[in-house]
Amino acid sequence: MEGMGRPIVVLDFGAQYSKLIARRVREARVYSLIVPYHVTLDELRGLNPQGLIFSGGPASVHAEGAPKPDPRVFDLGVPVLGICYGAQLLADSLGGEVVRASEREYGIAHLTRHDGTGLLEGIEARAQVWMSHGDRIERLPEGFVVIGESENSPFAAIARPDRQLYGVQFHPEVVHTPQGARLLSNFVHGICGCDATWNMGSFVDLAVEKIRRQVGDKQVLCGLSGGVDSSVAAALIHRAIGDQLNCVFVNNGLLRKGEANLVQRVFRDNFHINLDYVEAEEMFLSALKGVTEPEQKRKIIGNLFIDVFEKEAARLGHMDFLAQGTLYPDVIESVSATGGPSATIKSHHNVGGLPEKMNLELLEPLRELFKDEVRALGRELGLPEEVVGRHPFPGPGLGVRCIGEVTRERCDTLREADAIFIDEIRKAGLYDHIWQALVCLLPVRSVGVQGDERTYEEVCSLRAVTSEDAMTADWFRFPPDVLQRTANRICNEVEHINRVLYDITSKPPGTIEWE
Ligand code: XMP
Repeated sequence: MEGMGRPIVVLDFGAQYSKLIARRVREARVYSLIVPYHVTLDELRGLNPQGLIFSGGPASVHAEGAPKPDPRVFDLGVPVLGICYGAQLLADSLGGEVVRASEREYGIAHLTRHDGTGLLEGIEARAQVWMSHGDRIERLPEGFVVIGESENSPFAAIARPDRQLYGVQFHPEVVHTPQGARLLSNFVHGICGCDATWNMGSFVDLAVEKIRRQVGDKQVLCGLSGGVDSSVAAALIHRAIGDQLNCVFVNNGLLRKGEANLVQRVFRDNFHINLDYVEAEEMFLSALKGVTEPEQKRKIIGNLFIDVFEKEAARLGHMDFLAQGTLYPDVIESVSATGGPSATIKSHHNVGGLPEKMNLELLEPLRELFKDEVRALGRELGLPEEVVGRHPFPGPGLGVRCIGEVTRERCDTLREADAIFIDEIRKAGLYDHIWQALVCLLPVRSVGVQGDERTYEEVCSLRAVTSEDAMTADWFRFPPDVLQRTANRICNEVEHINRVLYDITSKPPGTIEWE
C-alpha cells in the first residue's frame, strides 16, 4: 500500500507506554504497530517488520512467568531496540546479567553519551532522560558495548552494532526525555533504514481495509454525539463501508447551543451518512427532575441513553457491530478503572455495558490513536474544523454543569452563557490554546442591580483549562479584557444570570467539570 513500507513492530510487555512508542514512531513518519509479546514467530514473520522495539513492562526478568518473547526473534535478523524492561530482557536473553537494583531509579536522570553515532547520533553529550526501573543490567552480553551511562545506570544505553541490537534503560518515548524522539528516529531511519513516508493518509487506507475485513457485509450501529471521537470514527467507518453504517444521534436536551443542527448538517447533508435523529429532551429532563447528586445524574442519563438507543436500534433492524470512538487514553483509563486499585472519581464510561447488553460486537477503529492524531485523521477525512478542533464535552452534558437541579430553563440559560463564552474565546483567537472551556450554573442566587432594579438571580462560573490528556489540568490565564467582555455580555444578554465568576482551580485538586 502506498506510503506504508514495512512496519516497526512494538512487542508489548505490559508497559504503560507501549502505545506512546508506536505513536513516536508514527511521528517519525514510519508505520508502526503493537503486538503482544507472546506473538508467534510465524505471525511476526507475517508482519514483515523492518525493526522491532521491545517495550518496557512492570515485571522483573527474574520473576516467575515474566513475559518473554520467542527466543528465536533474534534470528529474524532485523534490528532490535529494547526499552527499559525490553533492554533488560535483551541483556538477559543474550547471556548478560540483570540484577535487582538496591535502589529504584525513578524520574529524571542524565545520560552521558559515550558514542555520538548510530542510536545516539545528534543527542547532546549530557542529555536529560526519564528513568523508571527496579532491575538493572549488571553485566553486558558478549559483543555489546556501553554507549551511554547515567548517574545510577552504568549501562544506560548499550549496543551491539554488528547485529543491530540496542538497549536503553530509560524511556525515550516520554516527553521527559526531550531528545527521545531523535533517538527513536535514529533507530527507525538510521538503523532500520525505514523511509519517512507514513502519514494519516496511509492510516486511513489501512484502517479502511481493516474495517472492511472485520465487518464484511454486516451492519454497524454508531452513536454519534457530535464530539470529535465519535465523529471521526463515523467518518472513517463510512469511508470503509458506506451505507452499512447507521448513526443514531440522541438529543437529550443537555447539548450545547446549535449542536443538533451542526451534527445533522455535517453528517447528513455533507457526508450523506445514514443518520437517525432522536428527539428525547422531554424524557431526559423529566427523569432528572429533582435530582441533584452528580453520580445519580450520570446514572440516570447513562441508563436512559441506553434505553433510547436500544429502542432506536431495534427500529433500524438487525445490527451486528457497535462502533465506538474509543481512544488509547480511554483504554488506559478504563483498565485502571476496572482492574486497578485506583478509585473511580467519576463514572465516565456511562455506556460501558451497552455492547454486551445488545449483543453487539465492538468496532473501535481509533483504539491506537491519541487525541491529536484523531484530529489529524478527521481533517484527512474532510471533517470541518468546527468538528475536529472542538473541545471535549462530557456525555452527561449540561446535566453535570447545572449544579443542583437540572431544568429546561436552567439548561437554556446555560446554553446561552456557554455560547457567549466560546464565542469570545474564538474571537480572541484563544480557542485552540485551551483544552476545554465551560460554564456552569451554581446552585446559589445572588443579589445584583440592573437598570436601577434589584435582581436576585443565578450565578455562573467560567472555567477554561489547559491539559495534555485531561488527567491533569491547569486554569487558563486569560487576558482580563476577554473575561470582562464575556462577563458583560453574559449579564446583559442572558436572562437570569447576574454574576459571573472565574474558576482558578487546577486538577488536581479540582476536576475539570464541577460534578
Ligand atoms: P474531569 O471532570 O473528571 O473530566 O476532570 C475529565 C474529562 O472528562 C470529561 N468528562 C466526562 N466525559 N462522561 C464523559 O463522556 C462523563 O460523565 C464525564 N465527566 C467528565 C470532562 O469534560 C473532561 O474532558
